[in-house]
Amino acid sequence: MCGIIGYTGGRPAVPLIIEGLRRLEYRGYDSAGTAYVQDGELQVVRAEGKLIELDTKLAALDTSRARAGIGHTRWATHGVPVERNAHPHIDQDGTIALVHNGIIENYQELKDELTAAGHTFRTETDTEVIAHLIGAVLNSCIVEGVPEEDCMIQALSRALARAEGAYALAVINLAEPDVIYGARHSSPLVMGVSDEENFLASDIPAFLPYTRNVVYLNDGELVRLTKNSWTVYDCATAKKIERTPQRIEWDIQAAQKGGYKHFMLKEIFEQPMVVTNCLTGRLSPDHKHVTLPELEEMPVPERLHIIACGTSFHAGLWAMYLMENWAKIPTSVEIASEYRYRDTILGEGDQVLVISQSGETADTLACLRKVKEQGAKVIGLCNVVGSSIARESDTVIYTQAGPEISVASTKAMCSQLVVLTLMALFWGRRKNLLTEMAETECLDTLKRIPEHLETALPEMRETARALARQYSGARSFLFLGRGSCYPLALEGALKLKEISYIHAEGYAAGEMKHGPIALIDPDFPTFALALADDLFPKVQSNLQEVQARNGKIIALTQDGMDLTVDSVWKIPHAWGPLDVFFALPALQLFAYEVADYLGKDVDQPRNLAKSVTVE
Ligand code: AGP
Repeated sequence: MCGIIGYTGGRPAVPLIIEGLRRLEYRGYDSAGTAYVQDGELQVVRAEGKLIELDTKLAALDTSRARAGIGHTRWATHGVPVERNAHPHIDQDGTIALVHNGIIENYQELKDELTAAGHTFRTETDTEVIAHLIGAVLNSCIVEGVPEEDCMIQALSRALARAEGAYALAVINLAEPDVIYGARHSSPLVMGVSDEENFLASDIPAFLPYTRNVVYLNDGELVRLTKNSWTVYDCATAKKIERTPQRIEWDIQAAQKGGYKHFMLKEIFEQPMVVTNCLTGRLSPDHKHVTLPELEEMPVPERLHIIACGTSFHAGLWAMYLMENWAKIPTSVEIASEYRYRDTILGEGDQVLVISQSGETADTLACLRKVKEQGAKVIGLCNVVGSSIARESDTVIYTQAGPEISVASTKAMCSQLVVLTLMALFWGRRKNLLTEMAETECLDTLKRIPEHLETALPEMRETARALARQYSGARSFLFLGRGSCYPLALEGALKLKEISYIHAEGYAAGEMKHGPIALIDPDFPTFALALADDLFPKVQSNLQEVQARNGKIIALTQDGMDLTVDSVWKIPHAWGPLDVFFALPALQLFAYEVADYLGKDVDQPRNLAKSVTVE
């Protein structure tokens, strides 16, 4: 998830572009750049790191005569966050510059084709390939004699017909210095329009101080902006489309949160899209198999050691059940701060999987270095591209969840669970333990989850709100689960603790009678995960033990499960362990609604940091 912007109008473009990028920095902040035409030359300025680095470079330049330009703040997916890979990228002739948010899945195929046609590429990015493709098609349009005013739209239409994946693009062409072009497919793009100037951006905050008249672009649409006009086209046919602006009343803060009260809530509601992003580029063309090029060169681990902290540890613990069940890989899951000081033994053929959203967590990084010294191969599962853990792992798989702003991790865990599911399927098939039927059924279910979850989330939130009002007076909470729901119980307790400051304990339901049952009383409610799996009868009897001690119970369950408890919360049914993609958001929403109801600073809870880079 990157931030892109385009501007054309009567004012100096570059300062407006930088300011817009500053309001989009929550979308990505590992490098940035801008392109504009001035004195008949296409200027491209990029910088690694936060926006201030780009600002410093531009301060040394005179950009005052440019009246149109594009800009980008990056969240790397393809190519580490260095200046070379920062946007804008230019075409072979250096006359087209573009910025991109999204992932082009077939970029390698297009790159090979263009290379064979004599193109030379400077970066590993998918975006540079699109710039070259548009430039090449534009040249053929000119040669064909396409009318000059239609050339660029024709070129975009034909070139993008070849691109597979997600993209929001802003493009500037040296031949049309005051014109900005845009294109949208499965990645947000919106116009801010007015009489004297027009904006294009991946999100409204970029231009909100200047206009509240907004045109949301739909998938498959192109746009051409000049200082006092804008036209929308259908990308497939290059035909014009009538569109009407809407008026937006939000303030900047609200806009950055997309109208949500907190980043945490926004990130919970982003999970349907996150599942889609995680699957992007990881399924075979017929969608029957998982493709994980990052693991192709590595043997299937004899034994897997998963090491992580906090929410990432819970994701690893959940994955253990799949690795054992689907891939028959003996798996242990370790808390990094403990593992780093133990005399751990690694066998021949063992591999270590370190999981970290930020990729900078000190304890996890120390474990990575420790096991590498012991000669183990390390797989990194990270969200931040180019982070220390990503760089130091032997191979790294990125979760593509986009930047996670709220300290309490939500969508990052969802993305970790998707990739961990794909890894278990991948290894299960490599070991010929999984039938094609089973793999395809699992992938079909995974692909259907975004739509189902999108539909279910609003109602799930309403239920969470009602339960939060009923139970937020509790002084403590017990979260119970069995099997792959045990890690979820731990996660539910962690989420509630870290943002509402209510004491909460996650426990294996079967372990309860060995101690914690002593805590049960009417003021110490239990949140139980009682999903429709083989262990449901066991959970049912554990809940009877709680009821026998007058404990109040919220049971997260599904249709067809017979439960008589204080509060029954039914969530949709996916398929086996994939029910987690409904259970996890339910736990997140409950914690969120309790904390919000208690007036807590949900996005920046006390005593916590988004990335724990110290021991
Ligand atoms: C989770 O909500 C917390 N922010 C925290 O437990 C976090 O999961 C832990 O610090 C690990 O972070 P990482 O995934 O970035 O390594």
